[in-house]
Amino acid sequence: VSSIVIFGATGAVGLSVAAALRRERIPYRVVGRSRAALEAAFARDPLAELVLWDPADAASVRRAAAGAEVALDLVGGDYHRWRALPTTTRAIVEGAAAAGLRRVVLAGTVYAYGRPRTARVDESHPREPDTEKGRLRKEQEDVVLDAHARGRVEGVVLRMADFYGPGVEKSLLARAFRAALRGARAPMLAPVDTPHEFLFVPDAGPVFVALSRAPGAAGQALNLGGPGVTSQRALAALAFAEMGHRLRVLEVGPALRALGGLVDPVLRELGEMSYLHTTPVLLDDARLGALLGPIAKTSYEEGVRRSMAALREAS
Ligand SMILES: NC(=O)c1ccc[n+]([C@@H]2O[C@H](COP(=O)([O-])OP(=O)(O)OC[C@H]3O[C@@H](n4cnc5c(N)ncnc54)[C@H](OP(=O)(O)O)[C@@H]3O)[C@@H](O)[C@H]2O)c1
Repeated sequence: VSSIVIFGATGAVGLSVAAALRRERIPYRVVGRSRAALEAAFARDPLAELVLWDPADAASVRRAAAGAEVALDLVGGDYHRWRALPTTTRAIVEGAAAAGLRRVVLAGTVYAYGRPRTARVDESHPREPDTEKGRLRKEQEDVVLDAHARGRVEGVVLRMADFYGPGVEKSLLARAFRAALRGARAPMLAPVDTPHEFLFVPDAGPVFVALSRAPGAAGQALNLGGPGVTSQRALAALAFAEMGHRLRVLEVGPALRALGGLVDPVLRELGEMSYLHTTPVLLDDARLGALLGPIAKTSYEEGVRRSMAALREAS
């Protein structure tokens, strides 16, 4: 029987959690809206149990959760579809509580904090987002934390820094890494030298597994940052060096972004998040380390090497 059930399992984080569970030979259940997507990702793993759900159908959510102990809410989707996220989280929390699960762990982002007021942002930083996407992320967190306060399920939130990694398409760096393959100009959101941190997604899986168990995590929202402060340009430079090309940058400023936004809904939605490129949220994740012990973080050099190796293989 699977004790962990992963909603939204076919994304980058779900694959990372599954890999961490596989290393420990722990069976797990993956829940998705399409059998084809689930099979493409998990059919070859005998430890994985594949289950379909419809977030709008409460009975299907309950069935998907039944018999497990902990649910992970890793549901994502493109920016312009985020309005559905709080409703989906509510469905997962309700389904998990109805099925008698002990805990729900939610994948969160730095957006819930809003504009940073301190050079480092720890969990005591106020959550006052002034963007729509930030408010949606905060609402999702509140669904989980309120359920905890009401004793429905133990709620845990993991707020993660911006992603990159092998096969990770929803990354600020995805286009630049692809450009590095060919030595083309690397499009990145301006300004590209602002201090920024990135989370190597394979490092997230073991943290979710640990948070599914750690008694002390109940009721907490915790930060998970990268292995240090870097910048978009610095990581692109590593990617280009890895491929033996000289870095050439195409800085995408507000004008270019607005133009691209005419055809690309994700680019259009990026405008309101542009504060992250002038006043970055740099996470202090000492509390997570104190709870779980030292967090294994892949260095940027190694992370970029593995990201480029995956791209090379796929091309
Ligand atoms: N990208 C970043 O830099 C970053 C940073 C911090 C946190 N996060 C957040 O961390 C979470 C996990 O990230 P990820 O990249 O693994 O997510 P993702 O690929 O965007 O989404 C994960 C899965 O969610 C399911 N899904 C999408 N829309 C849905 C909907 N409306 N209803 C139900 N299921 C839906 C899809 O699975 P099926 O199609 O198989 O159902 C998808 O594969 C997301 O919430 C993401 O926003 C991202």
